[in-house]
Amino acid sequence: MNKNSNQLLLIKNLESIPYSLGSIIICKSKICEILNEINNQKELNIIKNKIIKMIEIIKHPKSDKYGLLNIDPNGDTISIRKDVLISEFNQILNSQTIKRAKYYLTRLENGFSKIKTNNINDINLLRWKEYDSIITDSLWILDKRDTSGAHIGWYWGNFIPQIPHQMMLRYTKKGDWVLDAFVGSGTTLIECRRLGRNGIGID
Ligand SMILES: C[S@@+](CC[C@H](N)C(=O)[O-])C[C@H]1O[C@@H](n2cnc3c(N)ncnc32)[C@H](O)[C@@H]1O
Repeated sequence: MNKNSNQLLLIKNLESIPYSLGSIIICKSKICEILNEINNQKELNIIKNKIIKMIEIIKHPKSDKYGLLNIDPNGDTISIRKDVLISEFNQILNSQTIKRAKYYLTRLENGFSKIKTNNINDINLLRWKEYDSIITDSLWILDKRDTSGAHIGWYWGNFIPQIPHQMMLRYTKKGDWVLDAFVGSGTTLIECRRLGRNGIGID
């Protein structure tokens, strides 16, 4: 059996192992050190084998020989969704060239070591995949209107709450002031408060 078929077998075996969803807490310095070490490898096969070992650790924490999950009380930790991390690793495993694998590795390492923000919202652009609350499909295809909290929906002219909610997630930061000059029954202001923004309305 050659190296490639060995690897395929390993991937197949790993895919059959169930793992619970949710988040995992990992040691920030350790993951950056390991990713950096993997990124310095000169062969795609070696990179992929090391990534397979990382997936194994996420799925079976007891197999953690790197100390990835050892949390030093004074150390920095990162909480990341397991499915997001595994899909990042799978993307590396599916790379056809070493250049592409290294591109994904660098991107992943940056996601752990850097924060990329901007002036208009609080989104860390290097970890955008983890923002479940942000709808990235069409904003107009919603299952049903949000009727939770203070929303009562008696007023025929009010917004579907998810629309101002999504707009403010994208275009405001916590603590910003939002003016609704067509306040109606105040849907936008309710969402404003939920998101930690300050709201003012006129009608
Ligand atoms: C579609 S509703 C607003 C919905 C609201 N922004 C929300 O979050 O649900 C439009 C509102 O604009 C108000 N309006 C219409 N013309 C206006 C004007 N010239 N100046 C201020 N408010 C106005 C109406 O009274 C109505 O309540």
